[in-house]
Amino acid sequence: MRQSSNAGGSAKKRTARPRHYLMCEPTFFDVSYSINPWMDPSRPTSTERGLSQWKTLHDLLVELGHKVELVEPVAGLPDMVYSANGATVVDGRALVARFRYEQRMEESPAYLEWFRLHGWDAEQAALVNEGEGDFLCTGDVILAGSGFRSEPKSHDEVQEFFGREVIGLTLVDDRYYHLDTALAVLDDDEIMYNPEAFSPQSRALLEERFPDALLADAADAAVFGMNAVSDGRHVIIPEQAERLPHQLRERGFEPIGIDMTELLKGGGSAKCCTLELRARA
Ligand code: ARG
Repeated sequence: MRQSSNAGGSAKKRTARPRHYLMCEPTFFDVSYSINPWMDPSRPTSTERGLSQWKTLHDLLVELGHKVELVEPVAGLPDMVYSANGATVVDGRALVARFRYEQRMEESPAYLEWFRLHGWDAEQAALVNEGEGDFLCTGDVILAGSGFRSEPKSHDEVQEFFGREVIGLTLVDDRYYHLDTALAVLDDDEIMYNPEAFSPQSRALLEERFPDALLADAADAAVFGMNAVSDGRHVIIPEQAERLPHQLRERGFEPIGIDMTELLKGGGSAKCCTLELRARA
């Protein structure tokens, strides 16, 4: 693990806000099918390495003062470790995912049950919706991705369900098939993204709404640098990202690099393994 602090001095002072996350231990992690370009079932995967990388992330989040809860992994659902896809949770209400591919559909009842048992007001989405993989909260708005997984109409369903403005964005590169592989929320209304992952219209929209956004280069995006978890100060990113740590430090954030290469074989990194639970405001 590579940890760096803000040595800049002149950069903005950042404050971490304690978060509440839901994670799922990769007990059954494997790449036995392919539903995104990162997944190659002929390449060997190690459940043990996946587990140890996941545990490093888990322990780091706890160490940073966040509350982490766990949903029981289910045999036969190797992608359940990517808990960001399980739901979108805002104002104490969970809209549970409806997955695009059959291989993941059985995850929905497991997530729904977890939310109900733990006292959250939860419902399953009517339209294809892959949870926080495609729906990211910034300030008062929800940024929503489509193009590969969540269907465009699901954006209206989310707007209706949470009563928040939803800004639809179109993803165009199949390596960045979920919004959280192309864009990350760093602080209330500060984001970073990989412009190349978006359609020209969506790029224009992002430029207009977020003129000061941090723009990632292609190399950092390709190691899943955009799949970051930020608490407003600490930003957990893949340790393979090169320029990103400096870019973050310049803005006063504290980048923390971790190795998630085993879980990347399934097409996910730190953010994919972390679902934020937002209580009633
Ligand atoms: N193998 C999983 C899939 O293709 C990876 C999901 C990654 N999750 C994410 N939030 N981007 O569905």
